[in-house]
Amino acid sequence: MRISSKVRELLKEHGRPAREIYFDLENGVWVPREVVEAMLPFFNERGYGHPSVTHKPGWEALEEVYLAKELVAETIGAVDPDDISFTHSGTEANNLAILGFTAKKDNRRRGGKIVLSAIEHLSVIFPAEHASELFGLRVQRVPVDEYGFVDPELFKYYVDKDTVLVSIQLVNHEIGAVQKLKEIIDVAKSINPNVVFHTDAADAYGWIPIDVERLGVDMLTISSHKVHGPRGVGALYVRNGVLLEPPLKGQLSVEKLWPGVENVPLIAGFRKAVEISFKDFENRVSYVKALRDKLMNGIVSTVPEVLVNGPLNELRAANNVNVSFLRVEGEALTVELSLHGIYASSGSACSSRILEPSHVLLAIGRKHEEAHGSILFKLSKHHGESDIDYTLETIPKAVERLRAISSWKSD
Ligand SMILES: Cc1ncc(COP(=O)(O)O)c(C=O)c1O
Repeated sequence: MRISSKVRELLKEHGRPAREIYFDLENGVWVPREVVEAMLPFFNERGYGHPSVTHKPGWEALEEVYLAKELVAETIGAVDPDDISFTHSGTEANNLAILGFTAKKDNRRRGGKIVLSAIEHLSVIFPAEHASELFGLRVQRVPVDEYGFVDPELFKYYVDKDTVLVSIQLVNHEIGAVQKLKEIIDVAKSINPNVVFHTDAADAYGWIPIDVERLGVDMLTISSHKVHGPRGVGALYVRNGVLLEPPLKGQLSVEKLWPGVENVPLIAGFRKAVEISFKDFENRVSYVKALRDKLMNGIVSTVPEVLVNGPLNELRAANNVNVSFLRVEGEALTVELSLHGIYASSGSACSSRILEPSHVLLAIGRKHEEAHGSILFKLSKHHGESDIDYTLETIPKAVERLRAISSWKSD
């Protein structure tokens, strides 16, 4: 049977729940109508030309790309819009940072070292390992504590005169740990002023204020779908003076670091999503934080045998709830919740089709079975109090049902 037919069968059996709440904002996104409407003209009304070609539809496209670059630059405190390069995803932006930096001969020497945290996204870890194979660089991963924090005191033992590149994310995508990034960057630069510092800020952008000048960061990744923009657009900030070699080869257009024509409709959608996110930044963040606390505290107080993954204080991202339900298989719980119209992800959201437990949860000391029972809920301003109430009514029953049929018994 073809996969499409199998999935159709599955969807038929599943049916459409009376109420639907989408919490899997780590993996996919529901795009608001005003963002979709901002994209539509660029398919066939205006700006559908190639942004590097000299005619009206081309200039309209170029204008849109630059309006987006200017806005993204402004929202991260970058002085020059040309320091922003659009890619077709956050994954590509991370690859551009790591492989683009190490592919440039002057940026590396044999025996040189790349330092990462143990909980980076796979789109940072894999390119770093690839750079190591290609160029003979060493990769070291700094451990994190039980909440996911890199200790600046420990980090200083990882940076030395051989370190050429450090990549440590600002906010962890699974457990919401907000790193003390300024402190970490200051430590790196005080030990070796030539170190180039990259941060994957995909999960921070739109949730905590970012100022590349204040942080002193050299490269920074963002991804459109993390702010309710369309999937398929990302951006990399590269500080003037940091030189990269485009890791992909092909025809260059506006972007000088990433070949291929810019996807103008998606860039227009990203710009709209950024505009909306930053319009009411503080109110939105505090609104979502209150929902987060209600959901997290509600789960802990109504479901026995749970562990909250990640920080419990102000250094937790406002939109992140990650809980391990002991004696429950996370995948089974996502299916059970889906039948009630609650869509969340299990284990590592980005790798939930891989049956390995999340490397992030293992790095904070969770056992395999604890990591397997984890569920990630990502919240946004599109959720309301009643969504949380309904979720809190549903989860205890779903967990109880799965535990009743589980072969895992409590200790
Ligand atoms: C922290 C982090 N970095 C990078 C990415 C990759 O971004 P994209 O999905 O745009 O490729 C993700 C994915 O969600 C992420 O969570």
